Amino acid sequence: MGWFGKKLKQEHKVMRQAEQAGGALLPEYHRATPECPHPERWSMYDSMTAEVEVLEFLRTLVTTTKPELVVETGSFLGVSTLWIAEGLKRNGFGRIISCEFDPVVFAQAREKIAASGLGEWIELRNESSLEMNVEGTIDLFFSDSDMPIREQEVKRFLPQINPQGIILMHDASSHLKIVREAALKLEAEGLVSVVMLPTPRGLVVAQRRQGRR
Ligand SMILES: C[S@@+](CC[C@H](N)C(=O)[O-])C[C@H]1O[C@@H](n2cnc3c(N)ncnc32)[C@H](O)[C@@H]1O
Repeated sequence: MGWFGKKLKQEHKVMRQAEQAGGALLPEYHRATPECPHPERWSMYDSMTAEVEVLEFLRTLVTTTKPELVVETGSFLGVSTLWIAEGLKRNGFGRIISCEFDPVVFAQAREKIAASGLGEWIELRNESSLEMNVEGTIDLFFSDSDMPIREQEVKRFLPQINPQGIILMHDASSHLKIVREAALKLEAEGLVSVVMLPTPRGLVVAQRRQGRR
């Protein structure tokens, strides 16, 4: 088992830790960065699930921009999927398609979603973001899968993303680097305009350059 196998194990480990914690909140322990010197002021459920404040932001972004179609890559245990679905429920329309390629993690997410009462807003898929096909225009795209493939993932879905829509790339801190660099590269290529939110793990909010008229 190479690097890829080790990565899966880490996800399973965090999944078990999350089960044991039973939804208790911890102070964020991602390391301090120049843009976010006090990560401990944020909260988290576990190191894979987005920071609680980012989850709140996702829900508010959904109620603020009223997307018809949200696509998320990397469901993990479905927590961010559920927060987005809560926003959709409040709006009274829309749906989220979320993909998780690890079958063990996917099974856990499916269980959690089934128990949530929000299942009607969610289409959970056990496939890779690099293979998933989605029909229609994507109004909100949340890229939260494996960090090295984020650039490829955003480029793959870009033609389908509403020019007035929003693209989010999680894990874009200066420490994690790779996603931040991917976002800046997409911007340098003239594809998107980006704003970097100084959160512990970093969050890029972007829009297709085409939409900035
Ligand atoms: C950071 S976690 C997602 C956290 C989740 N969005 C949340 O905030 O609750 C990343 C997940 O992406 C999954 N993943 C990695 N590469 C993927 C790919 N190409 N397609 C779909 N899922 C992928 C991993 O198995 C992992 O569960």
